[in-house]
Amino acid sequence: MRILLTGASGQLGQDIVTAFERRRDEFQPGKKPDFLALSRDQLDVSSRDQVFGVCYGYEPDVIIHPAAWTKVDECETNPDKAYAVNACGTNYLADAAKTLNAYMLYVSTDYVFDGYKSSPYIEWDTPNPLSVYGRSKLAGEHAAASVPFHAIVRTSWVAGHGGANMVKTVMKLLEERDNLQFVEDQIGSPTLTPDLADKILEIVAARLTGIFHVTNSGSTSWYGFAAEIASLLGYGEGKILPIKTADLFPPRPAPRPANSVLDNMALRTAGLGLLPDWRDSLSALVNRLKD
Ligand SMILES: NC(=O)c1ccc[n+]([C@@H]2O[C@H](COP(=O)([O-])OP(=O)(O)OC[C@H]3O[C@@H](n4cnc5c(N)ncnc54)[C@H](OP(=O)(O)O)[C@@H]3O)[C@@H](O)[C@H]2O)c1
Repeated sequence: MRILLTGASGQLGQDIVTAFERRRDEFQPGKKPDFLALSRDQLDVSSRDQVFGVCYGYEPDVIIHPAAWTKVDECETNPDKAYAVNACGTNYLADAAKTLNAYMLYVSTDYVFDGYKSSPYIEWDTPNPLSVYGRSKLAGEHAAASVPFHAIVRTSWVAGHGGANMVKTVMKLLEERDNLQFVEDQIGSPTLTPDLADKILEIVAARLTGIFHVTNSGSTSWYGFAAEIASLLGYGEGKILPIKTADLFPPRPAPRPANSVLDNMALRTAGLGLLPDWRDSLSALVNRLKD
C-alpha cells in the first residue's frame, strides 16, 4: 500500500507523520506500507504538472491532503492564490485519485459555515462561507467529493507543536505585554493536532467515507481560549481582557463566523471515539511548548 501526504511540514502534516510512525501496523499488518510525505517545496499542489507527476509516478492507494493556503486574511486580498491552492490544487489531486482509484481524505474547515446558527453545526448543515478562504476550501470540498472513495474532515481552531498558531502567539504576547484583548463573541472548538492526526489516520485505516467534523470536545471563545493559556502559565485574572469583534481596530480583512462550533455527529453515530476536552489537550501542548 502506498500513502501520499501533502503539506507534510504544516502543523497538522507534521503530526500526521508522527502519528503514522506509531500506527503503521494498522494500515497493512505484516507488510510495510509506503508513506510519502511531501512538503510544499517537494509538491506544490497548485501545479497540475507537479501533482500529476508525483501521483502517476508514485501511484498512491491513499491520498491524505491537509495542504492549504491557511492565511485567512491574506486570502481575502489574493483570491487567485487562495483558489489556486485550495480549490484547483485539490481538484488536481482528486483527478489523480479518480484515475488511480485511490481513496482521498481532504482536510477542510469550520469557516465553510457563516456562523449564524445558534447551535453547533452538524455535517449535514448547508455551508455558506463568509470569506475567500472559506469559499476556496468549500470549492476544495466539492473537488474531493467527486472522488468515489473520499472523506472530508472539517476541523477548527487548529494548534500544534510545529508551525505558527494562536497558542504560540498568545504565549509570546503574554511575556511582552501587560494585558491582551481577545474577542468574546466568536466561539469555536480548539483542536490540537496530535488528537486530530490520530483520528484522521483512524478514518483512513478504516477507509470511512463522507463528511466528518473532528474537533476537540467542548467549545469556548477566543477570549476563553487565551484566558485558559494564561491561567495554565500561572498569570492572574485581568491579564486577558474581553472585547467585541465590532470594536477590533483595525478590523480584520476576512470576516469570521461568530459560531463555528462543529458537532462531531458523524463520529458519534459511527460509534467512533470523540476527541478529548480541548482544555486537557491544550494543557499538554502548553507544557510541551514551555520546556
Ligand atoms: N489552522 C487552523 O486553525 C485550521 C482550522 C480549520 C481547518 N484547517 C485546515 O487544516 C489543514 C491543516 O492546517 P494547518 O493548521 O496545519 O496549516 P499550516 O500549518 O499552514 O499547514 C499547511 C501546509 O500547507 C502547505 N502549503 C501551502 N501552500 C501549498 C501548496 N501550494 N502546495 C503544497 N503545500 C502547500 C504549507 O506550506 P508552507 O508553510 O511552506 O507554505 C503548510 O506546510 C488545512 O487544510 C486547513 O485549511 C486549519
